Amino acid sequence: MHTGAFAFDTASGLSCDGVPLADIAASAGTPTFVYSAEAIRGAWRRFDAAFGAVPHAVHYALKANSTLGVLRLLRGLGSGADVNSGGELEVALRAGFRPDQVVFTGVGKTPEELDRAVSLGLKAINAESPGELERIDALARARGARARVAVRLNPDIDAGAHPHISTGRRVNKFGVPIELGRELYRQMARMPGLQPVGVHVHIGSQITDVAPLRRTAEAVAEFVGWLGEDGIAIEHVDLGGGLGVSYDGAAAPTPAEYAAAVLPAVAPTGCTILLEPGRAIVAPAAVLLARVIDVKRFFDAHAFVVLDAGMTELIRPALYGAYHRISAVAPRAGAVAACEVVGPLCESSDVVGKNRRLPPLEVGDLVAVHDTGAYGSAMASTYNRRPLPCEVMVDGGRWEVIKRRQTVEEMVGLER
Ligand code: LLP
Repeated sequence: MHTGAFAFDTASGLSCDGVPLADIAASAGTPTFVYSAEAIRGAWRRFDAAFGAVPHAVHYALKANSTLGVLRLLRGLGSGADVNSGGELEVALRAGFRPDQVVFTGVGKTPEELDRAVSLGLKAINAESPGELERIDALARARGARARVAVRLNPDIDAGAHPHISTGRRVNKFGVPIELGRELYRQMARMPGLQPVGVHVHIGSQITDVAPLRRTAEAVAEFVGWLGEDGIAIEHVDLGGGLGVSYDGAAAPTPAEYAAAVLPAVAPTGCTILLEPGRAIVAPAAVLLARVIDVKRFFDAHAFVVLDAGMTELIRPALYGAYHRISAVAPRAGAVAACEVVGPLCESSDVVGKNRRLPPLEVGDLVAVHDTGAYGSAMASTYNRRPLPCEVMVDGGRWEVIKRRQTVEEMVGLER
């Protein structure tokens, strides 16, 4: 079995780019996210290369995973950043991104966040509403500056993804209806604190059909044409993120297929194309390494395999019913049997994998939960007072801890 960076052989079990996961668990403990630097590099470069025919910039979406070690790796490749909060903005700066490499999206930005963004002179603030544009204009004028802005347009297109992560429909809270956008750009031309530099869209996440992405690109290209008629020249078209990955082995579009779907519409605008992929860059590059801490089997029902990781480390199964492959790091001989893989938390939503068929698992065995590089550690919590997990980066046959496990002292450190 070989799934990208994570390969299996009978002598050392599952390994990450040649480093046995059992060695990492023995030294770093569990639960631990294990990232392959090579897989992250490969994914980012494939994305960048897919748009190589046109002027473009890949702004990695920090929300997928903003651990500093991951960000520094991506910045080193030449990536830009897409941030969604004041916290992500500060983390991006700390990872070494320059303000002119950062775009700032977010459905609600506080006055403090906007003022910080204006004072830094970000590449673009993606504004969500007429009110927000007025607030940015006032803040910029107060500083004698002009803020580089784009309006997030809502094209009313169904991304076909899970309802929790679809954002491009009129019923969603995101952006400005595209048909109201034209008037907004006309007004912006009369606001001295604003410099309209682009247009922005993002219709959802884990999108596995390129058709809605193509329709969105067409709608945006038409919109840029209207701006041209109004004498408003912009620098870039930001297509957002959203490209899905395969969690279950079913085909998912490649970055090249995505580019082929959207470029015929947006390339003729002559604008630089901005992209904000998160998941596609980091999801397949990590496993969550966990240990079996109990096995419960009553009557003839399937067994519950209890891990030392659950919804605190990986909330996606509980929140979206998401599927992640699970494999034994060193599979035992014996018949494959049905089981439910669960976490140790005190609620029934704390499932890692329902209806699984796995080789026999015993207390102390290690398992890997696959494709957990995106929206795993970034959404982790300390519910049930569980310390945030350890994170490890494997690179060139070596590995290092890029985020050590939180201690209980640190967890209560903010409290009196
Ligand atoms: N740009 C904007 C404005 C976004 O809102 C997002 C994701 C992205 C880029 C990156 O999207 P990606 O390429 O990763 O699909 N927690 C959910 C996903 C939420 C995505 C939110 N926005 C999950 O675990 O599936």
